[in-house]
Amino acid sequence: MADRQPAPDTPELRERWGSFEFSPAYKAKADKAIARYPQGRQRSAVMPLLDLAQRQVGEETNTQGWLPLPVIEYVARYLDMPVIRVLEVATFYFMYNLRPVGKYHVQVCGTTPCMLRGSDDLLETCRKRGMVKGHVSEDGLWTLTEVECMGNCATAPMVQINDDNYEDLTPERLEHILDELAAGRQPKTGTQEPGRHTSEPLGGPTTLKEMVTENHDYRGEW
Ligand code: FES
Repeated sequence: MADRQPAPDTPELRERWGSFEFSPAYKAKADKAIARYPQGRQRSAVMPLLDLAQRQVGEETNTQGWLPLPVIEYVARYLDMPVIRVLEVATFYFMYNLRPVGKYHVQVCGTTPCMLRGSDDLLETCRKRGMVKGHVSEDGLWTLTEVECMGNCATAPMVQINDDNYEDLTPERLEHILDELAAGRQPKTGTQEPGRHTSEPLGGPTTLKEMVTENHDYRGEW
């Protein structure tokens, strides 16, 4: 489990992030998120706003983004919420980074199905490339985090990197994905198993077979 403490509140942190505010593009997205909720319930938008703030920090730092304390305070002011309420959300959900991360945040699932299917080997692959859990690699490219089940057990083992999942991994397949990202290319996302479309059984579907090639209507056959 990674450290869920916010980064220390230092003068340097205040200097760098104290004047943070949404850019016009992010402000438009934030206001759109707030408008989804009834009048007086704007605080319900705290999660999308934290996500947007993290993404803007990511763009400004060429990383996946994180949430410095002054940025969390900005979101609290934006929603007229006590800072502690926003901090509670930011520290609870793993999708928010509380420390600086690299350009690519490599989150390896280590829960039982992935562990039984080889997640230890994936962690070893990451370690061999200089990744250390909870730290940004020297080249600024990577941060490694071990996480709990991310709901892709049928295609275990899996890794989430920034917004994408990579599934049915082996050390060689993960090496290739990391090589592609390091070279600035976007590797194929989802399952890496040749011939597998999503999470259907290996060897092909065993039910609803007519839907493989068309949107077959089964209702008359029930
Ligand atoms: S155990 Fe890894 S995705 Fe569920």
